[in-house]
Amino acid sequence: MLATNKELMAAARKGKYAVGAFNINNMEWLQAVTGAAEELGSPAIIALSEGAIKYAGFRDIVSMVRLMAEEKKVPISLHLDHGKDMDIIVKCIEGGFTSVMIDGSALPFEENIAVTAKVVEKARPKGVSVEGELGKLAGIEDNVSVAERDAIFTNPTQAEEFVNRTGVDALAIAVGTSHGAYKFKGEAHLAFDRISEIASRVKALLVLHGASGVKQENVDLANRFGASIKGAKGVPDTAIVEAIRRGICKVNIDTDIRIAFNAYVRKALSEKPEEIDPRKVLGPGRDAIASVVREKIKLFGSEGKAR
Ligand code: G3H
Ligand code: 13P
Ligand code: ZN
Repeated sequence: MLATNKELMAAARKGKYAVGAFNINNMEWLQAVTGAAEELGSPAIIALSEGAIKYAGFRDIVSMVRLMAEEKKVPISLHLDHGKDMDIIVKCIEGGFTSVMIDGSALPFEENIAVTAKVVEKARPKGVSVEGELGKLAGIEDNVSVAERDAIFTNPTQAEEFVNRTGVDALAIAVGTSHGAYKFKGEAHLAFDRISEIASRVKALLVLHGASGVKQENVDLANRFGASIKGAKGVPDTAIVEAIRRGICKVNIDTDIRIAFNAYVRKALSEKPEEIDPRKVLGPGRDAIASVVREKIKLFGSEGKAR
């Protein structure tokens, strides 16, 4: 069944677990995520970026996600990830999304507030949830100063003001994670105290972007079959659990499923060079995504929460 991010995240916050938001671009990825969620009795968020919408076509991908979500026994949200283009955001609000993100994090504070409040004003009458973002998603090296950290991480006082003035349902915060496969040069560090402080001060539900673990096993497998992913490093599972304990209730995953898909499609192509049936190539990729999603659901504690 279809649900909004607000519903899924509020239940997660109460139950002290997190809902996974998984980026998808096509049918196989959608089947893998919704299938794994249903199998484990877990809610899930299907995240579409502006690039994914462009790639798959708005009407086609929205119809597919809504249809598949409606058929499942578990609640599934259709969410716009990192919306920046107001025309696309409005199209999503009016065209079947249950949640949108307005990413104004690159804008000055007042402009971020203005643009985010505008999205809330358009989304609220339609019952669509809104996620805003404050702070910069960037890896922090060990030796950066406290002042530099403060310039990048989400400031709790500003977060409180941002949420009060925009009315967002959810807030993406910057606490040391970043997008992609190269998150940390040295040890992984997340600003856990900041998560707790923001959680205690804001009404909005908190989101962790850039949360992939970048499992070495899948990186090695992809590299064994011709990929060149060197020096990749993700967020350790223990850090994800701690972030959830401190108030994160939506965790965004894209890179981990990209790497798994890449590794297993490469493997299939390499081990069966005579094979031209796309189902024999994409099928193992789809299975690999489902396997990652199952692991994440267990890690985030959302297994069985939708039964
Ligand atoms: O945070 C962004 C997601 O990983 C989606 O990436 O814009 O390449 O689709 P994308
Ligand atoms: P990863 O690159 O760590 O998977 O993060 C994905 C994300 O934050 C999507 O919004
Ligand atoms: Zn993100």
